[in-house]
Amino acid sequence: MKFANILQQPFTLPCGVTIPNRIVKSAMSENNADKGGKPSERILKLYKTWGEGGTGILISGNVMMDNKALNEARNVVVEDETYMRELKEWANVSQKKGSHLWMQINHPGRQSPKFNKDVVSASDVQLPMKSMFPKPRPMTEEEIWKAIDGFGNCALIAKKAGWKGVQIHGAHGYLVSQFLSTLTNLRTDQWGGSLKNRARFAIEIYRDIRKKVGPKFPIGIKINSADFQRGAFTEEESLAVIEMLSSEGMDMIEVSGGTYEKAAMMGAGKKIKESTQKREAYFADFIERARTKTKTPLLLTGGFRTLEVMAKAIENNELDFVGLARPFAVFPHLTKDFFEGTKTEVHIPPVKTGIKFIDKMGFLDISYFSQQMKMMGKGEFPNPKLSVWLVLFNFIKKTLF
Ligand SMILES: Cc1cc2nc3c(=O)[nH]c(=O)nc-3n(C[C@H](O)[C@H](O)[C@H](O)COP(=O)(O)O)c2cc1C
Repeated sequence: MKFANILQQPFTLPCGVTIPNRIVKSAMSENNADKGGKPSERILKLYKTWGEGGTGILISGNVMMDNKALNEARNVVVEDETYMRELKEWANVSQKKGSHLWMQINHPGRQSPKFNKDVVSASDVQLPMKSMFPKPRPMTEEEIWKAIDGFGNCALIAKKAGWKGVQIHGAHGYLVSQFLSTLTNLRTDQWGGSLKNRARFAIEIYRDIRKKVGPKFPIGIKINSADFQRGAFTEEESLAVIEMLSSEGMDMIEVSGGTYEKAAMMGAGKKIKESTQKREAYFADFIERARTKTKTPLLLTGGFRTLEVMAKAIENNELDFVGLARPFAVFPHLTKDFFEGTKTEVHIPPVKTGIKFIDKMGFLDISYFSQQMKMMGKGEFPNPKLSVWLVLFNFIKKTLF
């Protein structure tokens, strides 16, 4: 079968919903909402463009379920039905040509910058970047249940607005992954200690969402293969959590890795074996191990760039969906390009200054692709030749002044 044909096959999730093809635009924070976390016209314009590209699933950038816990100043916030009209329009523009729009739901926990008044986490373990991220306060039992309920409410609102699925953000060092890691979870109650206890938060979120959205609505989770930090969440633990989540009835597990201290999700700081390089995906070895542990549909994100490599991963039954993020910020109609044969691979510019400590952190990549998405939000085309130095300059200006 031709490579594009393999990726064009529909796939039915355990809940019964059929996804039109195997390509997923993974979450990229738009950080472009109006005041109060309202989905802006700019975001709608961006998704209108993405919606024309024939991608199977468009996963939104992380949507915050609590306006007191933002990861970025311009995140979309969904706590109640205030923005129902905008959320409906978001679904409408994205799904016009058959893509499924899923909402990624997040609570940043300790990765909340200092403009947040009261930062909470599993425990009071602060990030090393102390001037940017305040020391968190451990959540009370009541606050934990309130957060779980908040994830569920947010998912229900997405469903009411016509979105076709939700994804729990359980990766990249945010609150769910803070509960999973022994580095950030020092609790001695039912939410800490054993892996079963540390995974309880993720599992209770899944259960609460399922209770609210019913059995026929897709629920996924994005999870780290590992945090890639000494003493933190390991691959063995991740495999065990994947088994736990699968037995609950999860519809899709997306595998990523790293935190913004060590941005393995973007390929930073990770030694990649030659055999893995050929398979492009940063977590290609891990997904094969995950496949032996679970029957839950798997989505792998990070590094995929070539049609043939992606198709082979599916043909070899290593995974069910391929996720791409940064390429979609520069080539929004990539799926269509692949399927129509006008592209067989995608080259995105390396976002590098040559200064090691800057390049190792994720923020320059984030700023670069974020700027491309903002251009689309203004109705312009992304610019594959955008200068990294200009992006760095803008970042410094925005952060310091
Ligand atoms: C600008 C930007 C914003 C991102 N925001 C999110 C996010 O909100 N949620 C998330 O799970 N991952 C986020 N990511 C990570 C991507 O989903 C993805 O895991 C990563 O970019 C690797 O995939 P790629 O090599 O195809 O880009 C973001 C990445 C970028 C570049």
